[in-house]
Amino acid sequence: MRIGFFDSGIGGLTVLNEAIKQCKGEDFLYFADTLHVPYGPKSKEEVLEGVKHSVQMMVDENIKALVIACNTATSIAANELRRTYDIPIIGMEPAAKPAIQISQPLGKRVLVFATELTLKQTKYAELITEIDHDSIVDSLPLPELVEFCEQLNFDQDELTAFFQKKLAHFDLSQYGTIVLGCTHFPYFKSVLRRFLPPHIQLVDGSAGTVKQLKHVLSAQSILNTEGTGHIKFMCSTHDVDYIMKMQQGLAVLQGMEEE
Ligand code: SIN
Repeated sequence: MRIGFFDSGIGGLTVLNEAIKQCKGEDFLYFADTLHVPYGPKSKEEVLEGVKHSVQMMVDENIKALVIACNTATSIAANELRRTYDIPIIGMEPAAKPAIQISQPLGKRVLVFATELTLKQTKYAELITEIDHDSIVDSLPLPELVEFCEQLNFDQDELTAFFQKKLAHFDLSQYGTIVLGCTHFPYFKSVLRRFLPPHIQLVDGSAGTVKQLKHVLSAQSILNTEGTGHIKFMCSTHDVDYIMKMQQGLAVLQGMEEE
């Protein structure tokens, strides 16, 4: 049986890519909710409907576990999905905790990039209240990055101008870490690396989520060692062009690792 990875679009491929490396012997189903992408600017109710509809299609494909490879979908729908299905469901969380652990000893701050919807949820407020005892975490909604990503637009000059504008009011010397709190954002790691002062570390939740996935599969004795790493791609609009885009997105990520 396959492990299902779900996102609004091609962002969750950043998590799948990590799983391909860490979960040898598994097969995967990747599903994009192309009917509703992007989630960031939508209402909570619209996102919940899109997620529920998509995840039912994935469960109908007989997946053995679900990774909600989308921060916005996790914060809105994870609890309800866990109440509905009895397969393991692993979600995303902005990696603010490891970021604090890096920044705090250096006397630096943490900046979280995410969608506005993620930043507005009680789940995010609760996480920050729990871990940010010295008020060193700031946040910045960057929904435009989801659009850049969905258009496979990684133009260095355009993105550099975008980051210059968005970060103009931040004194970057004060920050030790930037959290990529949306699974679409790791696509911009190379551009950000060239743009940001070298002391700033980029932190995202992919590796931690996949570690948790492996832990859960192992605890339930459902780890597979005989799969071939095959990936089935699906989307809610049954759009063949989008399936090709997902394959291109994965190739972009794998190409970045070779840089
Ligand atoms: C989006 O569809 O706006 C991106 C959602 C996310 O990964 O948080």
